[in-house]
Amino acid sequence: MKAVYVNEFGGPENLEFRAVDDPPRPAGTEVLVRVKAAALNRADLLQRRGLYPAPPGYPERILGLEFAGEVAAVGDEVEDFKTGDRVFGITAGGAQAELLLTDASLLARIPENLDFIEAAAIPEAFITAHDAIFTLGRLAATETLLIHAAGSGVGLAALQLAKARGVRVLGTSRTADKLAEAAKFGLDAGILAGGDANLAAAIKEKNDGRGVDVILDLVGAANFPANIESLNVKGRLILVGTPGGAKAELNFGPVMAKRLTIVGTVLRSRPTPEKAAATRKFAEEVVPLLAAGRLKPNVDRVFKAADAHKAHEYLESNASFGKVILEF
Ligand SMILES: NC(=O)c1ccc[n+]([C@@H]2O[C@H](COP(=O)([O-])OP(=O)(O)OC[C@H]3O[C@@H](n4cnc5c(N)ncnc54)[C@H](OP(=O)(O)O)[C@@H]3O)[C@@H](O)[C@H]2O)c1
Repeated sequence: MKAVYVNEFGGPENLEFRAVDDPPRPAGTEVLVRVKAAALNRADLLQRRGLYPAPPGYPERILGLEFAGEVAAVGDEVEDFKTGDRVFGITAGGAQAELLLTDASLLARIPENLDFIEAAAIPEAFITAHDAIFTLGRLAATETLLIHAAGSGVGLAALQLAKARGVRVLGTSRTADKLAEAAKFGLDAGILAGGDANLAAAIKEKNDGRGVDVILDLVGAANFPANIESLNVKGRLILVGTPGGAKAELNFGPVMAKRLTIVGTVLRSRPTPEKAAATRKFAEEVVPLLAAGRLKPNVDRVFKAADAHKAHEYLESNASFGKVILEF
């Protein structure tokens, strides 16, 4: 098979779509997937630079945390999938290759209304977002959600999931255009972040003087003081991404007085049973909404696998709105 391979850790020019060994035949509960499309993630950029090693058992030089494709073969204990089924899911690495060996418990069926490119835009963003706001954040329909980087892949997924349950959603971006686009996905109020803006004051102003109940933070330390100030009593802050820094100072006072919960999460390093549980919830609660057209994948741009270096440059530029896809 061919795979997007990191010849040397460093810049995008080190990526090559080249021949590598095929995975072994599937055994037990394993499934061999013929990958048709795989989306990029920020984690790929870090791994490419040698800053985010793959967990044990996953290839260190073949990137890719999510995929959409067709079942090519199944192990003798697999009952739910057969050759030819259209499937998508998350993995801890190696998805940007023509073949991927994974576990059946990490697969969901692609609804008929989605093609492989659209399907590839979904798993990491929607599983991360669903797990963060509902499972960890316990977001209720009567509450208000704030999403930092609302125009990101995970941000747009969270926005759609929350709107599908009737939640009021505020979102930030450093780019006015992304806020305007996010409004088309149902964003109730957009806040321009970055620079000298007083974020906490802006959040309050856009929310009729009130605070918010749950914050999905895809930006990190830069927003931490404003997050603590903006949360209502019993508010929940879910830390998911750190492009804006990973270190901040914490005043315990408001955290204690407002009885706040601060939760961190990473999907990639979770053991397979925990990922399988998140995938099951995704299959049960998210896939039907995709099938009904109530949630939509957001494909920003598609690159050929041989142009993976261009796709990395594009994602690194922060110009993307939604997901960047590699086609195999
Ligand atoms: N913990 C997990 O399991 C998990 C899973 C998936 C993703 N993530 C993380 O979640 C975040 C969002 O992922 P994604 O795939 O949705 O990303 P994405 O589509 O690439 O969007 C990321 C956005 O973050 C904002 N951003 C980038 N650098 C920034 C900086 N220095 N300061 C402030 N904002 C910055 C930009 O939005 P604006 O231009 O609008 O400001 C950018 O478009 C990433 O950090 C990713 O690593 C974590």
